[in-house]
Formats: sequence, C-alpha cells, structure tokens
Amino acid sequence: MRVIVTGGAGFIGSAVVRHLIGKGYEVLTIDKLTYAGSLTSLAAVKDDPRHRFLKADICDRAAMQEAFETFKPDRVMHLAAESHVDRSITGARDFVETNVLGSFTLLEAARHYWNDLEQERKERFRFLHVSTDEVYGSLGDEGLFTEETPYDPSSPYSASKAASDHLAKAWARTYGLPVVVSNCSNNYGPYHFPEKLIPLVILNALHGKPLPVYGNGANVRDWLYVEDHARALDLIAERGRIGETYNVGGRNERRNIDVVTRICGLMDDLHPKAASHADLITYVTDRPGHDARYAIDATKLETELGWTAMETFESGIEKTVKWYLENEWWWGPLREGYDGRRLGLLAQTGAK
Ligand code: NAD
Ligand code: DAU
Repeated sequence: MRVIVTGGAGFIGSAVVRHLIGKGYEVLTIDKLTYAGSLTSLAAVKDDPRHRFLKADICDRAAMQEAFETFKPDRVMHLAAESHVDRSITGARDFVETNVLGSFTLLEAARHYWNDLEQERKERFRFLHVSTDEVYGSLGDEGLFTEETPYDPSSPYSASKAASDHLAKAWARTYGLPVVVSNCSNNYGPYHFPEKLIPLVILNALHGKPLPVYGNGANVRDWLYVEDHARALDLIAERGRIGETYNVGGRNERRNIDVVTRICGLMDDLHPKAASHADLITYVTDRPGHDARYAIDATKLETELGWTAMETFESGIEKTVKWYLENEWWWGPLREGYDGRRLGLLAQTGAK
C-alpha cells in the first residue's frame, strides 16, 4: 500500500505517518513545513526506507502532479491545513490559500492521476479528506453533531475547512473521484504545537506562567487522543464508503476549565511546586465568535467500521502531560519561536 500523507510533519499527520509505517506501508509525506510543521515530529520514521519526505506546498500544482506521477499512490490522506482558530481571526489569507486553494489543487492533481490509472488501481484508489467538527458550528447544552448536521461554521478557519469539504464532495459527485470525508473533534497528545489549549497549559504551568482561560471557561470540547484518530483515519481510508462522511470523536466532553484544572492536578503530582499550579489559572478576554460546545456522535464509524477509542480522557491526558515533561528536545525549539503569547484578539487584526 502506497500512501501520500499531506501535512505529515504536523500534529495529527505525523501520528498518521507513524501508524502507517508501523503497518508496513510505503508513505510519502508532503509538507510545506510552516511554523506548525517540524521534521522532528517524524524522528521515529526518519531512517525507515519506506518513508519519503517532500517539502512542497499543496498549492503548487506542478509539484503535486509530479509527486503523484513519481510516487504512484494507492491512497491520499489529506491533512495539510492551517489549523489554529486564533490565527485565522487575525490573518485569514493563509487559511483560504492552503485550506481552500490548496485542497482544490490537490484534488485536481489527484483527479488527473486517477483518470489515467488502469481499471483495477482506479477502483482501489481513495482520497481521504480530513476535516473538523467545527464545520457544524456550535451546539447548545443538548445534542450531538451527526453526519447530517447542517454546516454552520463560525471562524475563518472553520469556514475554510467547510469550503474544502464541499470541494472534496463535489469532486466525488461530479468527477467520480473516490473521495471519503472525515470530521473529527478536538485532538490532543504528543507533538501538539504549543499554541493549542492543552500543550499551552502544560508548558505554561511548567514555566510558572499564567494559564489563560477564555471567557468563563464553560465552553465544551470533545477530546480525542491523537493515536485513536490516526487509527480511525486509516480505517476510514481502507473501508469507508465513497462519497460518505464519517464523524470521529471519543465521547469525552469536557468544559475548558475542567481540562485546565485536571492538567494542574497532574502537574501537582508529577512536577510539584510550593503552590498548586491551579493558582496560575487566569480568565482572559473571550475568543471572538467562540463556539460554545462541540460533541460528536460517532455511531456511524463505530457500527459500520467497528472503530472505538482506546484512550479515555483520563488515561490520555496523563500520558500527554508525562510526554511533555519528558520531551523538551521536541517542544523547546518550538517555544523559542512561539512563546505562548495571546493570539486571535480583534485588536490584533489588520487588513490582509
Ligand atoms: P497542524 O497545524 O499541526 O499541522 C498542519 C501541517 O500542514 C503542518 O505540518 C504544516 O506545515 C502543513 N501545511 C500547512 N500548509 C501547508 C501547505 N500549503 N502545503 C503543505 N503543507 C502545509 O494541524 P493538525 O492539528 O495536525 O491538523 C491536521 C488536519 O486535521 C487539518 O486538516 C485539521 O483541519 C484537521 N483536524 C484537526 C483537529 C485537531 O484537533 N487538531 C481536529 C479535527 C481535524
Ligand atoms: O474541534 C476540532 C478543532 O479543534 C480543530 O479543527 C482545530 O484545528 C483545533 O485547533 C481545535 O480547535 P479549538 O479552537 O477547539 O482548539 P484550541 O486548542 O485553540 O482551543 C480549545 C478550547 O480552549 C477553545 O474553547 C478555546 C479555549 N482556549 C484556547 C486557548 C489556546 C482557552 O481557553 N485558552 C487558550 O489559551
């Protein structure tokens, strides 16, 4: 099995690459290495002869076409994206370029390659478009996102992902490209760039810095350990039905303040200081357009493809805190480039 993974030097992409190489697949990682991508996240597969790396922008049509023609994939798992909501608020252009135009360019390169395949390989080919539950917008206190929930994105990030989902589905309906779409809830785990809530809070706690909680901390996210997501994506690419969407989530809803408090409790145990880390919790100005609650109904994935999450939030968050405490070699250089300063305030926006 030969798989192209775009965004494979990022958080989830690198977990997918490690998973596929572990299964004995041949993998070509394509990544532009933006601020969010790092070859250090692929250290575990660096010397594996089945792994190749191509530094390229998914917006570069010629580079994408050449990658398809030379690597000759059976599958594409498309994860490359600008992924941080706060950054999309202060500068949406990169999000539109990569998430919309980049996905379009990749779909076109895939379509031209797929069109020329001989019948058996054509039938086997799959394009997995990896997306987010944020395309569904915000839930109230009740209910779950299903695959039928109407799209209602709130942020420039989620709007750009929604656009790319529509493109991917249109390429299946119009051109017959064998596309499958997945929409997942919040991931956490090793190699998570420390701008996102969980790694930011772990490292700020370690360094005795304030732990910023947006608004009143009551917003709810549905957390999934990244390796559970990687297994789900492999399964969806393998057995998902063409043209279908599969929601992915671990049934781990938590209020942000409860997540931060739990991390503080783990830090008190694993890295004790004179005062509790919870003393560092600081309520700050809310995120503009902040979605109140996300929660995934993963019944389709569970019943149709037999997937279940292996980590609970309790087991996953403990592993994650320990991983950050033991792997400064990975996050140290990234924290030098991004020190945890607040992103995504309206006062920081300019015309782009
Ligand atoms: P990430 O920001 O950690 O990684 C994104 C990767 O894409 C980086 O390595 C970056 O260098 C690369 N990239 C960005 N622009 C590129 C371009 N133009 N060409 C080539 N490579 C480019 O993101 P992540 O959290 O790993 O998310 C991966 C995918 O999963 C995204 O599509 C995201 O929307 C989706 N997703 C993320 C989550 C989550 O909780 N993190 C949840 C659901 C879905
Ligand atoms: O739901 C899936 C999405 O999850 C993915 O599509 C995105 O790529 C991913 O970044 C994530 O988006 P969120 O906006 O939910 O993640 P983030 O870690 O930025 O924020 C999680 C919650 O914590 C959110 O309600 C905002 C809040 N928050 C975030 C930060 C960075 C804080 O309270 N303080 C913070 O400092």
